[in-house]
Amino acid sequence: MFGIFKNKENKNHNTFDYSSLMVDMHSHVLPGIDDGAQNPAESIELIKRMMKLGITKIIATPHIMADYYRNTAGTINTALDILKAELKKENIDITIEAAAEHYFDETFETRIDERKLMTMGDNYVLFEYSFISQPPNAIPIIQKLKDSGYKPILAHPERYQYLDLDDFRSLHDYGLLFQLNTISLTGYYGKESKKLAEGLVDNQLIDFISSDMHHLRHAEAFQNALKMPYLEKLLFDYPLKNIMLR
Ligand SMILES: [Fe+2]
Repeated sequence: MFGIFKNKENKNHNTFDYSSLMVDMHSHVLPGIDDGAQNPAESIELIKRMMKLGITKIIATPHIMADYYRNTAGTINTALDILKAELKKENIDITIEAAAEHYFDETFETRIDERKLMTMGDNYVLFEYSFISQPPNAIPIIQKLKDSGYKPILAHPERYQYLDLDDFRSLHDYGLLFQLNTISLTGYYGKESKKLAEGLVDNQLIDFISSDMHHLRHAEAFQNALKMPYLEKLLFDYPLKNIMLR
């Protein structure tokens, strides 16, 4: 009898949002500096959608990528200032900070050596791999990050189809933290990413979850992810570290 009631309750999916998570630490909401929001009006639209779903702090992470987005602390902080002024003008009360999503290219190691990485919280660094193949020097660079006092977080591991759960287990043992895009759980990036996302959750390999918000289609999917039982598990029965970035 209780089982029946429980099932009924679980079908009522819209009973929770991201308010227990509080912090979204991977998004492209800074205006005009990457493939995310192109102007302050677009930024504000995305931010309003995130706030409506319970997010109370946003750490924006524009791409830093030698080939496409040559952002620096200068370009990122300028965009942050523009956005903050606009939020103030519109009386929108949200805590917003900036770090970056570093692309693992040939300039990444130089940035580590020069201590030029954009960090969040207690020296966390968010970076991403190519979607085609893992860089051959992945392990030495992770070691270098750690030796330099950085705490490396790999963005959306579920999107790297060339890695499997064993690879992720060993990278995690090595001290690499993982950030899942919650929209992967909806199948937004395809069935394989969804499956890998679920496997990573099941194997207790996820440390952070976030939106990776670029545009309104992501905002829709970020909301739809709230219907996924896996997200419910992550939000209420999982040792996520987002809270450390409050
Ligand atoms: Fe991203």
